[in-house]
Amino acid sequence: MSTLIAEEISYSYNKNQKLALNRVSVKIEPGTLTALVGPNGAGKSTLLKLLQGQSTPDKGHITVDGQKLINVRFKVALMPQRSSMNWKFPITVEKLISLGQIKQNKSKNSSPFQLGALLANPKGWVNKCCEIEAAMQRVGISKLAKRRLDSLSGGQQQRALLAKTLMSPAKIFLLDEPCAALDPPAKEEFLRIARQLADSGSSVFISSHDWGRSLNKYDKVIVLDKSIIASGTPQSVQSNLEDINLDIINGKSDCD
Ligand SMILES: Nc1ncnc2c1ncn2[C@@H]1O[C@H](COP(=O)(O)OP(=O)(O)O)[C@@H](O)[C@H]1O
Ligand SMILES: [Mg+2]
Repeated sequence: MSTLIAEEISYSYNKNQKLALNRVSVKIEPGTLTALVGPNGAGKSTLLKLLQGQSTPDKGHITVDGQKLINVRFKVALMPQRSSMNWKFPITVEKLISLGQIKQNKSKNSSPFQLGALLANPKGWVNKCCEIEAAMQRVGISKLAKRRLDSLSGGQQQRALLAKTLMSPAKIFLLDEPCAALDPPAKEEFLRIARQLADSGSSVFISSHDWGRSLNKYDKVIVLDKSIIASGTPQSVQSNLEDINLDIINGKSDCD
């Protein structure tokens, strides 16, 4: 179990540009399902990249369990925005998921697919395969293992991408707009899996550019528009925002 704390972080993409994030503080606690809501361009993806250490804030600090994020990046995993993926790439579901493991092992200078490592430790190979199967089971796509990614529905693709993300040793999962472009049943199913993850002790932090009823399914809601506009339980945030004329309030949530 891990706790991530970001304190007063600010970030701009270049010195002459406006701040993409302005003094943002968040705390991500174990076992929680959090929604990060904000309009397009609010800085959600930027914040998630900073929280996973892909970029460094200009100001402020990020720690995980009291240690600097830079030293413990493996404790945080980021599932990228759907639009950043090439869904036509000819790859099977199980192969995609195994890539999550290869990436993770690269840093330790070993890959489950290296012949030397395989001969030296055949049991390790079996364990790797079990981990892939376990990840598929957690998101309910075991039967799709041999299917090509481009033959799946949007919801199935998102669950495959989540399974790949789960191959990480992280306990903090940042999911960038995972419900975008999914139909209502697929959105509901994705949220159900996210809730199960949180209930098993992980922290799940989900960004969404819309606002809607499904936010009541989260433990905590953070509203971002370059800086934090509101934060708290779904009910308290909703009532705090009633006076604020934000477009997102009138929209429908991605996860409705
Ligand atoms: N690579 C980049 N270079 C310059 N500006 C960027 C880059 N990525 C995002 N931005 C800008 O930073 C702001 C926040 O973007 P982003 O984090 O993608 O918002 P969101 O995910 O909430 O839609 C936007 O104004 C966007 O145009
Ligand atoms: Mg984004």
